[in-house]
Amino acid sequence: MSNLKERILKDGVVYPNNVLKVDSFLNHQIDPQVIHEIAEAFYQHFKDKGITKVFTIEASGIAPAIMTAMRFEVPMLFAKKSLPSTLKKDDQYETKVHSYTKNVTSNVIISKHYLQADDVVLIVDDFLANGEAAKGLMDLVHQAGAKVAGVGICIEKSFQPGRQTLEDLGAEVYSICRIKSLANQEVTFIED
Ligand code: G4P
Repeated sequence: MSNLKERILKDGVVYPNNVLKVDSFLNHQIDPQVIHEIAEAFYQHFKDKGITKVFTIEASGIAPAIMTAMRFEVPMLFAKKSLPSTLKKDDQYETKVHSYTKNVTSNVIISKHYLQADDVVLIVDDFLANGEAAKGLMDLVHQAGAKVAGVGICIEKSFQPGRQTLEDLGAEVYSICRIKSLANQEVTFIED
């Protein structure tokens, strides 16, 4: 069993609305050993794809993405949810991402300078639920004329439609752990 699965069983807390709280080791306080193991698994899975950039969205995607980029020895780029004062309108790619969990739609942006048509991009995020975040990131990659090599996810909530949405768009999705159910406040995984 992966370190991540063990930590989810030990320290994860299931909230009534099918939300898994992993604040103590993944997306608030972060255990570098867990993130390191995740990055290694992404590397082993995608190492033959010619990845030139790892791409995520702020905030919680940044930790796994930076460790993954380090392993691939490529830059990490993260999409921003608000426009930095230093970035001009024509210098950016922009898309909309709706969060069902938070019920907000954000304009998500990156500078055109950091994604080029010859980039081969690995998208990384902490959770895959409805797939809206990764779908937005795919859109930004396509606006740049670059290629999506795949999507690496730490925790996939397989009872939500995110994987199907991304696969329908042609992306290969690789998840470290896939949660079958959070019913009755209990975590059950889809076994490998
Ligand atoms: P999506 O991430 O697949 O697009 O689905 P959804 O719209 O449901 O998720 C919106 C936000 O909620 C995302 O964070 C996602 O990572 C987070 N999320 C979804 N399910 C869970 C869960 O069970 N537990 C936790 N802890 N988070 C979940 P975000 O809006 O990008 O925020 P940030 O925290 O990365 O800044």
